[in-house]
Amino acid sequence: MNNIFSANWIKAKRSNGKCVTDFHRAFQLRKDVAFAELSLTAHGVFVARLNGMRIGEDILAPGWTVYQKRHQYLTYDVTKLLQTGENRLSVGVGRGWFFHQAKEFASKKLKSDEAALICALTVRYEDGSEDVIVSDESWQTSRSNVVFNDIYDGETLDLTARAAARTPAVCVVYPKEILIPAEGAPIREQERIPGQKLIVTPKGELVIDFGQEVTGYVSFSAKAPRKTEICLQHFEMLDRDGNVYTENLRSAKQQFRVISGGKAFTVKPEYTFYGFRYVQVIGLEPVDPNAFTAVVVHSDMKRTGYFSCADDLLNRFASNVLWGQKGNFLDVPTDCPQRDERMGWTGDCEMFCRTAAINYDVRDFYDKWYNDVAADQHDDGLIPHVVPNVHRFIGNNAGAPAWDDVATVLPWELYVAYGDKKRLRRQFPTMKKYVDGMIARCRDKNAPPEKEFARPWTTEGYGDWLSLEDLSREHGVGETDRGLIATAYLCYGLQTLIKASQVLHYDSSWYEYVLTHVRAFFRDAYMENGRMKQDLQTAMVLALIFDLSDDPAETGRQLAENVRRLGRLTTGFIGATHLLDALTIAGEDTLAVDLLLRTEYPSWLYAVTMGATTVWERWNGMYPDGHFASAGMNSFNHYAYGSVFSWMFRRLAGIQPVEGSPGYRTIRFAPAPDPRIPWVRAAIDTDYGKVSSYYEKTGTGWRFTFTVPGGCIAKADLFGAIYTLHPGENVITVE
Ligand code: BGC
Repeated sequence: MNNIFSANWIKAKRSNGKCVTDFHRAFQLRKDVAFAELSLTAHGVFVARLNGMRIGEDILAPGWTVYQKRHQYLTYDVTKLLQTGENRLSVGVGRGWFFHQAKEFASKKLKSDEAALICALTVRYEDGSEDVIVSDESWQTSRSNVVFNDIYDGETLDLTARAAARTPAVCVVYPKEILIPAEGAPIREQERIPGQKLIVTPKGELVIDFGQEVTGYVSFSAKAPRKTEICLQHFEMLDRDGNVYTENLRSAKQQFRVISGGKAFTVKPEYTFYGFRYVQVIGLEPVDPNAFTAVVVHSDMKRTGYFSCADDLLNRFASNVLWGQKGNFLDVPTDCPQRDERMGWTGDCEMFCRTAAINYDVRDFYDKWYNDVAADQHDDGLIPHVVPNVHRFIGNNAGAPAWDDVATVLPWELYVAYGDKKRLRRQFPTMKKYVDGMIARCRDKNAPPEKEFARPWTTEGYGDWLSLEDLSREHGVGETDRGLIATAYLCYGLQTLIKASQVLHYDSSWYEYVLTHVRAFFRDAYMENGRMKQDLQTAMVLALIFDLSDDPAETGRQLAENVRRLGRLTTGFIGATHLLDALTIAGEDTLAVDLLLRTEYPSWLYAVTMGATTVWERWNGMYPDGHFASAGMNSFNHYAYGSVFSWMFRRLAGIQPVEGSPGYRTIRFAPAPDPRIPWVRAAIDTDYGKVSSYYEKTGTGWRFTFTVPGGCIAKADLFGAIYTLHPGENVITVE
C-alpha cells in the first residue's frame, strides 16, 4: 500500500482564506539515496518543490474528480532533486476546484475553505533501509506570496512580500479511503504563443492580441517601481467599437495581478487558468507584446487526427474545432473555459466525443471522467447535468435527454474508435443503469402490453438547446418537442445497450422487446405517413439517425425539403451534431455541403468569417452588425457545434471505422466528393498505424488515394461501386 495512507491530512492553524497556503518540512539525509518518491494530494490544487525545484510538470494537480468519492493522489520520482545534508520540501496549496467547484452554486455550501495537504516521501537508501516522511504536526505552514487565488477570478502575486511567519501545521481527520492513484491524462503546459501585436483601443486601453483564443495563462517579464500593481485582464472579444469586452465572463474576473518588488521579474500564475485571446495590460507602460507569452494548458493527449482541404474557411473551422478541444479538455470535458461555469456539462461531451476521438487519443482523459460519471450517477440511473456534480447543492440536477445520454454514447463511441472490449465491459453497468432508469420512468406496468411504453420518459431537459427555428429569438430549449427528443434518445440508448450486450455476450432480449414498443410509440406519437408531424429539422434528423422512421426515404425527403425551403440550418446542440449525417442518410450529400459551406448567419462558417479562432457557443454570439448576443450566456469557446467535424472527417473525407470490427481494424472509405472542394486530405493514427484518405478532382473525374495499415481490412465505396483495398497505398481513379 502507498505510504500516503499512513500520512495525516494537515492544514494551517488558521485559514489563509484566498491566499495560497505553503506547507514546509526540512529534513536531513545522511546516507546515500537509491531512490525517493513523493506521493501527495490536497484539498485544493498543489505546486510542490524540493530544494526550490518544481516537482513534476503537472498543472493544477490533483485535478478535478467527484471529491466526495474519488480523490486522486500523484506520485513522483524525486531522487534527482535530493541533496546530501539538509533538504527542504515545500508544497503550496491553492483553492482550485475543491473550494470553488462552481462559483454560482456551490461556494457558500462548503463547510470550510481550509487548504489541506496529505503526503508521504519515501526515501530508500543504498544500504536497503528506508525512511518515510509523512505530513504531520512536524510540518510548518505559512502564507504564500500568492496572496489571492481562484479558478475563475485569477491570481495575485505579491513580489514585495517577505518570507512569512511560520506556524506548526495541525492534523485533521479527512477521509483517506477515497484516495486513488491519478487516473486521467495529466494537465501540462503545451505550446507557447508570443504576443502578436499591441492594440490601443478607442478608449485608450492597452491590449495584447495573441491571435488565437486559448486556455491557459500568460507568462510575462517586466520591471516596474516597487509596489506598482500590474493587472492582466484576460478576455475573449473586442466589442464592435474595438474596446475591451468582459461582460460575457459573468462573475469570473479572469485577472492576473502582480505587485512589483522593484526588480525585473518573469512570472506566471500557478493556481488558476483563463480562457482568452486578448489581455488588457493595466498599470504598466510602455507595453512590449514580445514580453508576453500565452502558455497553452490542457490535458496531455496524443494528437491523432488531421484534416485539410481546398477551402480555407473550412480549414480554419477545423482548426477552431481543434482549439475548442484543447481549450476544454482541462482534466474534465468542460463547456467553456472562461466564464463562471467551466463545468463537465454532460450534453456537450455527448455531442462532441465522436469528434474528440478523431482529433486526439482521448482514452485516458475520458476513462477518468467516465469513472466520475459513474460515481455521480443517481440511484435511479439518471446522470447529473454536470459531472463532477456541483449542482448537487441545488434541486433538480439530472434527467436531460442527450445530456444524460453521455452514459451510453461515450462508451460506445470509445468502443467504435478504439475497439477495447474491456473498457466497454467496465462501463456497461453505468450504461445499463441509465437505460433501466429511463425505462422505469416511461413504463406503465398496469397498461395493456401495446401501451406499456406509450409515453415519453421525460418532457423536461434542455431540448434542442440554442436552436434557431426563429431568428428573432435569442436562445432557449427550441421548438422540437421535448417528449420526442426523450423518446428518440431512449431508442438510441436501447440500441446502444443492445449492441454493447451483443459485443459482451449478454442477453439483450428484454431491451429488444422494449425498443420495439418505444419505437412504435415514437411513430405513433410523432410521425404520420413517414413524415414528422413537427416539420422541424431536429425532429427529422433524430428519426433518421436513430433509425426510427418506418419510411426513411419519405422522412429524408421531408428533411431535404425543409432545408431547401429555409436555405439554412435551424438546429441547436442536438440537431446540429447529426444534421449532415441525416442528410447523408437521405442521399443529400450536396445539400449537406451547401450547409457546411454556407457563410451567412446562421451557419458553421459564419463565425469563421467574423474572425473566430474557436467555435462559438451560439450561432448568434455576434450578429452580422457586430453586436453581441446577451452576455448572460455567450461563450466564444464552446466545442458543441464543432461536433459536425466528425461528418467532415467520416463523410467528406470518408474515413469511417466499422462498428462490427472497431478501432479501425476494418476501415470503410466512403467519401462524398463535391466539386466545390476540389481536394480533401485526412488522416488518423490508429493502433494499427496511419489511415489516410486523399482525393482530388481531375479533368474528368476524381482520383483517390487511400492508405491502409498492415493487418487491416478495407473497402472503398465510391459512387456506389465497392473496391477491395490492400495494405499500403491504393490509388483509384473514377472518371
Ligand atoms: C452550458 C452548456 C450546457 C447548457 C445546458 C450552459 O450554461 O454552457 O454548454 O450544455 O448550459 O443547457
